Amino acid sequence: MSQRQDAITPHGGELVQRMASTAQRQDFVSQADHLPRIQLDSRATSDLELIAIGGFSPLTGFMEQADYDQVVQHMHLANGLPWSIPVTLSVEAAVAEPLKEGMLVRLDDPSGDFVGVLELTQKYSYDKGHEARQVYRTEDIQHPGVKVVYDQGEVNLAGPIWLLERQAHPLFPSYQIDPLQSRALFRDRGWQTIVGFQTRNPIHRAHEYIQKCALETVDGLFLHPLVGATKSDDIPADVRMRCYEIMMEHYFPQDRVILAINPAAMRYAGPREAIFHALVRKNYGCTHFIVGRDHAGVGDYYGTYDAQHIFEEVDAHALGITPMKFEHAFYCTRTQSMATTKTSPSTPAERIHLSGTKVREMLRRGELPPPEFSRPEVAATLAKAMQVPVEV
Ligand code: ADX
Repeated sequence: MSQRQDAITPHGGELVQRMASTAQRQDFVSQADHLPRIQLDSRATSDLELIAIGGFSPLTGFMEQADYDQVVQHMHLANGLPWSIPVTLSVEAAVAEPLKEGMLVRLDDPSGDFVGVLELTQKYSYDKGHEARQVYRTEDIQHPGVKVVYDQGEVNLAGPIWLLERQAHPLFPSYQIDPLQSRALFRDRGWQTIVGFQTRNPIHRAHEYIQKCALETVDGLFLHPLVGATKSDDIPADVRMRCYEIMMEHYFPQDRVILAINPAAMRYAGPREAIFHALVRKNYGCTHFIVGRDHAGVGDYYGTYDAQHIFEEVDAHALGITPMKFEHAFYCTRTQSMATTKTSPSTPAERIHLSGTKVREMLRRGELPPPEFSRPEVAATLAKAMQVPVEV
């Protein structure tokens, strides 16, 4: 065991652990056939996992109404700590109706496997339109996060949970580094300052640029791609992870960078999700968190830097983790380097940046994105994943 101190305490002071003990697991398994059963969707399964491993500290379960109301309305938990996204288990009224407070509820994952237990302490109805407006800043059901809210049940089941067993991730077992482990790794490496990076897209050079700019001023970089549910047109997690492996092999100093998966589902809540993403990385042990352009955004719902401005609304001390804000990065043909408008005198015509949609279109046409946008090995991996013949 390392004698060194953690660089940052978890949100709320203690890292929550909600893994069933061996005795509890045996007890739950013996009751399993007699407990009321709820089938979780992919997002709720991710949430269950994150609560259990402490990624959502100080939450010990799905939110009760006092927390829910404060979070939706004021971006704080009932105890006053900053928190920006509701973590709820929503079911149809008919499913909630027979459940009584005080009951244990069996939680099954989407494939029907028994994965956790909820001790039901409260059930309450909520206003979907209000949640959508407050958290997502829109009621448009074209918004993928809002659609989830409108599609889910109208009653929230709340209470503490237990995860039955910490199972290895089926695709990325060696990158499953839970908060207890990431904190130990940071301590062992002697890192006092660690910057976390959230991502749901394949790595491109603007990502690499802001990651490395941040790393220049801290001890370590925690690359933390999200591998839970994303919208259907996002690039799948296995492809994105392959790109990161390539980057780790060729472009990053191994002793300064740790690659790990974040099991969370995307909400696409832009500014609110940036705060949430930062708090989760605080629990993993990061002291700093990168927020670039349109963080966790989708379509045109949020202004380019709204996810940076929202940090001004939250008490920095209570938040604990420090945002590192970056302007839109691009390749500057005039100075022949990656840059932003802060560091480059270029005109717009001298800047190379491609949107995710544009890159997907290029790949579909059999074209590789240029080396100014994407490392060639990454571009080739994306092309292969999209089953496009590579023209080099
Ligand atoms: S996100 O939904 O996870 O935010 P993405 O993986 O594209 O999407 O972004 C990861 C992080 O990189 C976010 O902080 C985002 O703001 C930032 N980012 C992405 N592209 C750029 C860019 N061209 N310039 C600056 N920051 C960027």
